[in-house]
Amino acid sequence: KQPKITVIGSVNMDLVTATDHFPSKGETLLGKSFSTIPGGKGANQAIAASKLGSDVTFIGCIGDDTFADPLIENFRHNKIHTDFVERISTEPTGIASITIAENDNTIIVVPGANHSVSPTFVEKREDVIASSDAIIVQLEIPLESVKKAVELAYRNGVKVILNPAPAQQVDLEILRKVDFITPNEHELPILLNNEAKREFFKNNKEKFIVTKGSKGVQLFWGETSLIPGFTVDVVDTTGAGDTFNGAFASAISSGQSIEQACLFGNAAGALSVMQLGAQTGMPTREDVLDFMNERGVKHET
Ligand code: RIB
Ligand code: NA
Repeated sequence: KQPKITVIGSVNMDLVTATDHFPSKGETLLGKSFSTIPGGKGANQAIAASKLGSDVTFIGCIGDDTFADPLIENFRHNKIHTDFVERISTEPTGIASITIAENDNTIIVVPGANHSVSPTFVEKREDVIASSDAIIVQLEIPLESVKKAVELAYRNGVKVILNPAPAQQVDLEILRKVDFITPNEHELPILLNNEAKREFFKNNKEKFIVTKGSKGVQLFWGETSLIPGFTVDVVDTTGAGDTFNGAFASAISSGQSIEQACLFGNAAGALSVMQLGAQTGMPTREDVLDFMNERGVKHET
C-alpha cells in the first residue's frame, strides 16, 4: 500500500548563482548562471517522497508574492496535497540565496513566511498528522512548532523522522519522541551538545543515521555500520540530504528494513546530485531501482 507521509516544514524559492569561485569580502564577480528553482528542506523532502511513490501532504506557510504561485504549482505538479499550505499576506515567501562554486556551495536562508508555522498552526492539523504512517520534520520552521508536530505524532503512534538541519540544538524531550534522527557529520556534534544528550545517543543508537555525502550513511548498531553511497558525476549537491530523507521515509513506511531504506536513500541522493537544483534530478522509484541494478546492488524490493 502507498505510504502516507506528512511533512511539516519549510518551502523556499532557491536563487541559485553558479560562479567559478566564491567572492571574497567586498569583491564583485561576474557569475556564470542564475536560476530560480523550488527548494526549502521541507518541500524538498516532501517532493522526494512523493516522486518515490508516497502519498504526501505538506503543512507549511508561503507568502503572497511572485514566488508563491510557482511554488504551489510545483507542489501540485508533484502530487503533493496542498490543502494545509497557508498564504501569509504579511510575510515574504522563504528564499535561499545559493552560490555554487569550486565543487561546493554556500546558502543563506531567509525564512520569511516559514516562521509563521506556529505551534497552533500545527496543532490545528492534528488529524492529518494522526492519519499518517510517518511525519518528517526539519529545523527551518520555529523549534516550538517542530516540538508540537513531534508531540502530536508521538501521541498518535505515528513514526517521526527528524532531520536536524540546518544545525541547531534540539531539546532532549523532542529527541526522545522521535524514531529516526538524520543529522550530517557537521550537525551531529551540535545536536549532542551536552552530557545528557550524549548519554541519550549511547542508549538510543538505533535511532541515529548520520549522512556522510558520497561516502554513504553511518549506523551505530548491527553488523554493517556504513551503508555505502554511490559515486556519480556531481553537478550540485544541494538537497542531496533532503532526497535521502524523503526516500528513507518512503522506504521505511513501506516496510523496508533500516539498512535497505538507507541504501535506497543513498541511491536516490546520488541520482539527485547529477542535476543543478535541489529538486531537479530527484528520481522516481523506477529510476532508483534501475540505478541500483546497474550498479549491481541487491535490494529487497
Ligand atoms: O537542503 C537544501 C535546501 O536548504 C535548499 O533547497 C534551500 O532552500 C535551503 O533551505
Ligand atoms: Na539536483
